[in-house]
Amino acid sequence: MNLQTNYLGLTLAHPIVAGASPVSATLDGIRRLEDGGAAAIVAAPVYEEEVQAMDAAFEAAGAIGAESHAEVTSYLPPLRGYRGALAAHVEMIRRAAESVSAPLIASLNGISREGWTGIAADLEEAGAAALELDLFHIPTDPRETSAEVEQRLVETVREVCATVKIPVAVKLSPNFTAPAHLALDIAATTGASGLVLFGQRYEPDIDLETLAFCPSLRLSTAQEIHESLMWIALLAGKTSLSLAAGGGVEGSAEVIKYLLAGADVVEAASSLLRHGPSHIKRLVEGLAEWIEAHGATSVDEIRGRLRADRLADPEALLRAQYVRSLLMEHRALDVRRTA
Ligand SMILES: Cc1cc2nc3c(=O)[nH]c(=O)nc-3n(C[C@H](O)[C@H](O)[C@H](O)COP(=O)(O)O)c2cc1C
Repeated sequence: MNLQTNYLGLTLAHPIVAGASPVSATLDGIRRLEDGGAAAIVAAPVYEEEVQAMDAAFEAAGAIGAESHAEVTSYLPPLRGYRGALAAHVEMIRRAAESVSAPLIASLNGISREGWTGIAADLEEAGAAALELDLFHIPTDPRETSAEVEQRLVETVREVCATVKIPVAVKLSPNFTAPAHLALDIAATTGASGLVLFGQRYEPDIDLETLAFCPSLRLSTAQEIHESLMWIALLAGKTSLSLAAGGGVEGSAEVIKYLLAGADVVEAASSLLRHGPSHIKRLVEGLAEWIEAHGATSVDEIRGRLRADRLADPEALLRAQYVRSLLMEHRALDVRRTA
């Protein structure tokens, strides 16, 4: 059985990649993901905004009392050991890249031009095998058009790709008006090597006790596969970019569905948090069993069998969802009426 796959020009032992999550934020977590069997590991991102905030807080702490007396800084013990939040993360990436044999994909979320390109260069220098750009951004300025938002995104990707030599993957949110056009624009104009469809949805909530907005970061379930599945099927074969499918990889069934739709790899995060890194081995075993039971001998043989351009009626991919959900609603109504 040959489970090998190619992602971003990297040959991977199988198609299950550990996505960015709190587990991949530490050296120990990255090692545990490799022990669990991940074919590649996406490290949790460096957030430029967070780096700036931490450095500013450190500077402010160092200056406490400095104005109360001219000599105060000479009698306070010097604050030693702080190398800056970015330096600490880059050092973690360096040590992780040295200590795991699976490719380590560093990721970042920038806010400034210098941040995106500078941090990308640092991560490359630290030994990352590839970069994943987490382009999650909420366009709150009502004057900015969707075309401008996309143009800024494409420009950011182009600048990062012009800065580093390692392959770059772009992680998108599903909240674009025309994801297919954006994907093909990224492929044609930036130098990126892959797309991750999609990252986690941001779902803010209100805490009724504190009467404040709060983030609701919840673990996904297999129910969240559908949107990514559709876009992978629609884009596979239409772009030379590698395609990573993300969202709702709970069991090997979701891995298989994403591969049939045309994904090169899947990125799993929630299920690894829920069941632990050893869950990856179960996903790989389930995939191998299914491939064998269906008379194939490799991932390549099943990949893209159900991508849109291979369907006799590609429109069915879109119609099926609509018609099926309507039928289910009618059936549910009938059951209630006859009960
Ligand atoms: C607790 C948690 C934290 C995450 N943090 C990040 C992050 O910092 N950056 C990022 O790009 N994705 C992050 N993700 C998103 C995952 O990498 C992945 O894209 C998404 O969760 C979909 O995969 P899943 O359904 O397997 O969780 C996080 C996911 C979870 C569950």
